[in-house]
Amino acid sequence: MTRHLVTSALPYANGPIHFGHVAGAYLPADVYVRTLRMQGEDVVFVCGTDEYGVAITISAEKAGEEFSNYVRHWHDDIQGTFQALGIEFDIFSGTSRCEDHAHTSQEFFRQLDAGGYLEKRTSEQHYCTHDEMFLADRYVLGTCYNCGHEKARGDECPSCGTWIDALRLGSPKCRVCGNAPEQRPTTHWYLDMPKLRDEHIGQWILDHEWKPNVKAFIQNMMKDVPKRAITRDMQWGVPVPEDLAGGEEGKVLYVWFDAPIGYISFTKELMAQRGTPEAWTDYWKGDDARIVHFIGKDNIPFHCMVFPAMLYGVKQDYALPADVPANEFYNLEGGKFSTSEGRAFDVGGFLDKYDREATRFHLIASMPETADSEFTMDQFLTTNNSVLAATIGNLVTRVLKFIVKNFEGSVPPIAAEHVAEMNELILTGCGEFGDPAEHVRQYRFRRAAEQLVANAAVANVFMDRMAPWTLRKTDPVKAQSSLNTLCEWISWVARWMVPFMPGKAQAIWEMLGGAGAVADQPWPGIPTAETLRSLPEGQPLGEPAALFPRIEA
Ligand code: MF3
Ligand code: ZN
Repeated sequence: MTRHLVTSALPYANGPIHFGHVAGAYLPADVYVRTLRMQGEDVVFVCGTDEYGVAITISAEKAGEEFSNYVRHWHDDIQGTFQALGIEFDIFSGTSRCEDHAHTSQEFFRQLDAGGYLEKRTSEQHYCTHDEMFLADRYVLGTCYNCGHEKARGDECPSCGTWIDALRLGSPKCRVCGNAPEQRPTTHWYLDMPKLRDEHIGQWILDHEWKPNVKAFIQNMMKDVPKRAITRDMQWGVPVPEDLAGGEEGKVLYVWFDAPIGYISFTKELMAQRGTPEAWTDYWKGDDARIVHFIGKDNIPFHCMVFPAMLYGVKQDYALPADVPANEFYNLEGGKFSTSEGRAFDVGGFLDKYDREATRFHLIASMPETADSEFTMDQFLTTNNSVLAATIGNLVTRVLKFIVKNFEGSVPPIAAEHVAEMNELILTGCGEFGDPAEHVRQYRFRRAAEQLVANAAVANVFMDRMAPWTLRKTDPVKAQSSLNTLCEWISWVARWMVPFMPGKAQAIWEMLGGAGAVADQPWPGIPTAETLRSLPEGQPLGEPAALFPRIEA
């Protein structure tokens, strides 16, 4: 039986989450997981904060805070945002808080070393005599040798995306004090990517089916992949296992080495909480494990090349990722979402003002699936007022209020002689409907969102054709038959909605008088004449209420 392990990129615990992150790596994953669960699949959904590395230490130093307090603060803040959005991980841990994380990461280091995939080497590195430290990654700034950008960092150029060899930066400077560093020798461990590629990962990448935006990127990158240092001279991080350090002190694992291992250590933590500590292997090892990583495009090299190489290199029967649905960038009205430039607007504040469910739907409907896209307030209003309110909201209130006003306020009966005619009209004559889950499973979330709306629109067409407000006077039995059909369709819409708007789906379910959680219903798929009728006639309706109140500009 397939076990689905779904992850979202571990956000750095150094600032708030913004819509760019949400639409890229978190919300699509949540929609995917909810869909699979309704389809009866066994899914574990794992995330947590990325708490080590230079991105954290630099921000914490700026804020004048202890690293551990600092990451705790942002862990809790980020977790609160996910809760407010209804993004429900099975576990939301963190790389410094998860007890087993250091151990699991060190085991990877040890097993890669045993397999001959690590090389220990001493070389010159930038050293700041003023701050008395080696300038790892972003601690050194300089001119990019690829594009000339003057604020390239020691790990990566933010302008052209090149992986930087810090020693080749033009006019290097210490990020802390601004002085030019000198070069001193230091020892580090390097992951032998060329060997891992030639043995297995290169062929695996070629054979694997990737999203088109992922494929071109990594196939190029793989061609001249270097050996990469996976340790750093720092205090804050997972220490290199003492017995392997060979007397070297102050060496920790590079954050991009330990962070993806967090997916594994958090799964272990979850299974220990559930009282089945061994069960984590079901999701990570063997033929049944199906691993899917939701990420933004800047994380492609590590998820499609380096982490798979690590999983292979430890020789512990780990499954390699089945899919890495990487998204492009999501921008904010003509610019980038950026916490540092104050262009992030606070998600919590937004959700205090605007409906969480409409927000979820809009972010999915506009997400950067195949190309960069952007959030605009105008389009958000259009989604709420002209799409959700005009189709789903209008359908539900129109039908249910009409029944409450003119009939008993319960699901009306359908007369036997009308069944064929009603089925025929709604199943073939009122528009194209389809199964949103089919698109979700192919990571076509925007199509899935469109399909959901199109499915709801079918009932609006049906209602206009049947015109129960006129029929009520001329043929009340047929009017009831048509309203029965509409209630049915609405109950399908509620079930199709669950992954996207779980709260509104439940609200509609209750307006129909449905018992329990609609999310516990099986996935409905596509209605047919055999499956369409599923509501008990006479089921008392709940209180109909507006679902998507108009938002003024
Ligand atoms: N923290 C990284 C980022 O925000 C993502 C880490 S994903 C993981 O870009 F795989 F390393 F965990
Ligand atoms: Zn300095």
